[in-house]
Amino acid sequence: ALMCGVQASSGVLCAETEYHLTEISTLFLFCRYNIKALIGRGSFSRVVRVEHRATKQPFAIKIIETKAKEGREVCESELNVLRRVSHRNIIQLMEVFESHERVYMVMELATGGELFDRIIAKGSFTERDATRVLQMVLDSIKYLHSLGITHRDLKPENLLYYHPGVDSKILVTDFGLASSGNKAGDWLMRTTCGTPEYIAPEILLRKPYTNAVDAWALGVITYIMLSGSMPFEEENRTRLYRMILKGRYSFAGEPWPNVSNLAKDFITRLLTIDPNDRMTASQALKHPWIVTMAASSSMKNLHRSISQNLMRRASSRCHSSKSGHSSGSNKSRLEQAVVRFLCRQLPTEKKECPVGGQDG
Ligand SMILES: Nc1ncnc2c1ncn2[C@@H]1O[C@H](COP(=O)(O)OP(=O)(O)O)[C@@H](O)[C@H]1O
Ligand SMILES: [Mg+2]
Repeated sequence: ALMCGVQASSGVLCAETEYHLTEISTLFLFCRYNIKALIGRGSFSRVVRVEHRATKQPFAIKIIETKAKEGREVCESELNVLRRVSHRNIIQLMEVFESHERVYMVMELATGGELFDRIIAKGSFTERDATRVLQMVLDSIKYLHSLGITHRDLKPENLLYYHPGVDSKILVTDFGLASSGNKAGDWLMRTTCGTPEYIAPEILLRKPYTNAVDAWALGVITYIMLSGSMPFEEENRTRLYRMILKGRYSFAGEPWPNVSNLAKDFITRLLTIDPNDRMTASQALKHPWIVTMAASSSMKNLHRSISQNLMRRASSRCHSSKSGHSSGSNKSRLEQAVVRFLCRQLPTEKKECPVGGQDG
């Protein structure tokens, strides 16, 4: 029997082939961890919450299907990065189990939900709160870039809160599209990838590009955090890409008149078309908005106009079209967050959420 008491009955243990060894590895995983709930889903992956049987400690396991070539590539990118990094704002990999068709990545569990769920649930959101989130994210991106790693899929659903408390740190996750190049930092990438609304113009132009694509995505994320709307938003993919290529976004309408000029300057310097002129993560950390605002006391409450924008989006785009890439339903994530929020406000008798997503 294995250590956990599973009997060596089905012929699994007597074989010497690699196949059987990998199946033993899976068996070992289930002996060690008790699966509790499904908490996330992507095109090639599922994420489950588990409990370590001996210590009762909770963890997350990302299960990646490796039968398809894409699944294998996503898995390889993710492991290449996670095995190299150690940073308080990057999800920590604990151990890995492999079977013939799946890879199981045991990671620390983030229980605070995704960035957008938090903005809505919190009931208030300030420039100060945004800069505190950005400080943590920028610090981890600066670290990744110093190692020659580009995330390439930064977006609010890949930024998780470690715990439900107000003072929770943020964890950068999902390195399925990450590229780990050399340390020189001038290593050029060519693969066209990312999530449409967050893709940098140089990727769309199919030019060789650098880690500056992460800085662009951070500009998009900052815009969303402060307004609850997307800088580049268009149902039609071709028109969306045209807007991005021209860098056509605006600070018109609510809540922008109430947003500081420093915040707008910060966004403008990240949403700069020429990647050579774009602020780097390490420059962004030193931008006066980040430096002064993160240290300041509570500011104007932006929550109302943010949630108004989010809800307007949700009602005007009930049937958003499918968009590509690993996370499947990325386009409707903002809407899903709003619907989850609205569901929580409903009288208890009909508390069914019409959309999928995490079970929290
Ligand atoms: N360590 C974790 N702790 C808690 N939830 C997680 C964790 N990792 C992922 N999730 C949840 O699962 C979702 C999908 O995981 P992710 O790594 O982004 O996979 P994909 O590559 O399929 O997008 C995330 O958006 C998040 O909600
Ligand atoms: Mg993801």
